[in-house]
Amino acid sequence: MTTGLQHLHSFIPYLFLPILLLSTVTFLVKFLGKNSFTKGDKILGLSTLILSHLQLVFGLILYFAGSKGFTFTKIEGFMKDPELRLYAIEHPSIMILAIGLITFGYSKAKRLTRDSKKFTTLGLSFLIALILILSRIPWDAWLA
Ligand code: HEM
Repeated sequence: MTTGLQHLHSFIPYLFLPILLLSTVTFLVKFLGKNSFTKGDKILGLSTLILSHLQLVFGLILYFAGSKGFTFTKIEGFMKDPELRLYAIEHPSIMILAIGLITFGYSKAKRLTRDSKKFTTLGLSFLIALILILSRIPWDAWLA
């Protein structure tokens, strides 16, 4: 089962990262241009949210059921090894923080009435999430 999940967790970022980048740029540019919030903007934000939550669910299962992740915390001195530390602590915690930001931005924007406020809330929370995500992807393993 974990092999299928590994493939999914590895494949989804090919969709999720471009969509997160596209929505971040769209929301920030639309804020500057004083545009109105359309149905397309809502779909873009929702797609980003759904993909991030899929990554979260698959990631959590892999963390506890897979060979990397929680198992690494049982290895003595794992915090001194950059690769073990990345999978055991940094990748999951930073990704959870980033997904939390995406969720916060999406739900806060939903309750706002002014379109410009919706765009800043979404644009800024998605931008910070994107930076956090890019900083903790295991690039070597992913692109190998
Ligand atoms: C935005 C969210 C996330 C993104 C973009 C992401 C991306 C990735 C990528 C690209 C890999 C490398 C896959 C490969 O080797 O081909 C990976 C591995 C992994 N991720 Fe995530 N991840 C996210 C969230 C999470 C979360 C929330 C957890 C756990 C709580 C998690 C746990 C793991 C684990 C355990 C692995 C190693 C899988 C294995 O090879 O056994 N990820 N992730």
